[in-house]
Amino acid sequence: MLENLRSTLRFQPITVNRTQRDLDRAANIDDLRTIAKRRLPGGVFDYIDGGADDEITLRNNTDRFDDWEFRPRVLRDVEHIDTSTTLLGKRIPLPLVMAPTGFSRIGTSGGELDTSRAAAGRGIPYSLSSLSTRSIEEVAEVCDGPKWFQVYVWRDRGLVKEVVQRAQRAGYEAIAVTVDLQTLGRRERDVRRGFTLPPKLGLDTIIDGIRHPGWTWDFIRSEPILFANITGSDQSDGTDATALADYIANQLDPTLNWDDVAWFREIWDGPIVIKGVQTVEDAKIAADLGLEAVALSNHGGRQLDHSPSPIELVPQVRDAIGDSMQIICDGGIRRGTHIAKAIALGADACMAGRAYLYGLGAGGEAGVDKALGFLHDELVRAMTLLGVTNVSELDRDLLRELDRT
Ligand SMILES: Cc1cc2nc3c(=O)[nH]c(=O)nc-3n(C[C@H](O)[C@H](O)[C@H](O)COP(=O)(O)O)c2cc1C
Repeated sequence: MLENLRSTLRFQPITVNRTQRDLDRAANIDDLRTIAKRRLPGGVFDYIDGGADDEITLRNNTDRFDDWEFRPRVLRDVEHIDTSTTLLGKRIPLPLVMAPTGFSRIGTSGGELDTSRAAAGRGIPYSLSSLSTRSIEEVAEVCDGPKWFQVYVWRDRGLVKEVVQRAQRAGYEAIAVTVDLQTLGRRERDVRRGFTLPPKLGLDTIIDGIRHPGWTWDFIRSEPILFANITGSDQSDGTDATALADYIANQLDPTLNWDDVAWFREIWDGPIVIKGVQTVEDAKIAADLGLEAVALSNHGGRQLDHSPSPIELVPQVRDAIGDSMQIICDGGIRRGTHIAKAIALGADACMAGRAYLYGLGAGGEAGVDKALGFLHDELVRAMTLLGVTNVSELDRDLLRELDRT
């Protein structure tokens, strides 16, 4: 009887570390989001999770993936699945790039060091934001994987040139010029909370902080959060807890236009990605200018509400430009099946932001790795069940558009 009981009962070893225990129990990106929501102060979570205005675009970015159903093929040899692909002339293990996200140090004190190390661990290209809280060089030191630098075009072009050249010297392989931030979208969750970057300590923040002691302890012990790539210039480096909207409004250059591509070719020797293209017409201009790639993106629903979801644009843009330029689908990726659909519809790769930020908030570098692991494993499973062994075999025959009328 005792023998019988012993053979059926399997006790898991108890994990003392709560973060690790939470991560062990997470089954997908959405679970990481739930853990992050519990661990982070409300204002910090909403800064990551929220979108502009009514958040219609934010929701659509993920929901529009449901407009497509798979047509899985069976009885094909799927023993060896290869998820690697070529992006900007380099082989990468997964058709995925980590999207640039500013201020990662509000997730953990490691910030961009944690996220970029996790990216390097899996060989996934990491894009460092212009508004990062760890510098170009600090990230290059810990991240020996592929790196891109995201460029916000400031009024002070001297500063833009300087950071781009620093990125080149530090071994970054591509720049992604973000073009959908002519002015800052209104993220109403931040407005209601009076949320600023870096976070200001008011009564609300203190109460919120007491309710999230793990995050608060990490935040208090670490050095002040700065715009690490702007420190030392004559512009504000964020030390004064400037409200983000004021800072951006003062620094962004609204005169930015297509003629500036030529200037980027002069100051940067390497591939250029235009991030924030939202129409077929603009994708065609980018292709005609000989740009290496566009990221179809609405900034994760944080800028113009009611703009189209990237997944809707992918097939339209691919049909319009043929193979003349690479396409990255950026927004709403929470599942490996989303990546499979984007590639099948004509994208060369996807970018994901919140997917890994939820991991960061849930458990630092280990949480980011967990998020990337989910996306990888889910893509492998999807390809296996679709009957394809190679990313190049993901095509439109594997999808059927659902009629929602
Ligand atoms: C918290 C946060 C900060 C972001 N910061 C930047 C940034 O500094 N530069 C940029 O080009 N895009 C930024 N983005 C947009 C992302 O690069 C990406 O377009 C978006 O997250 C994609 O949507 P997803 O979060 O659904 O994957 C940010 C997004 C989030 C969620």
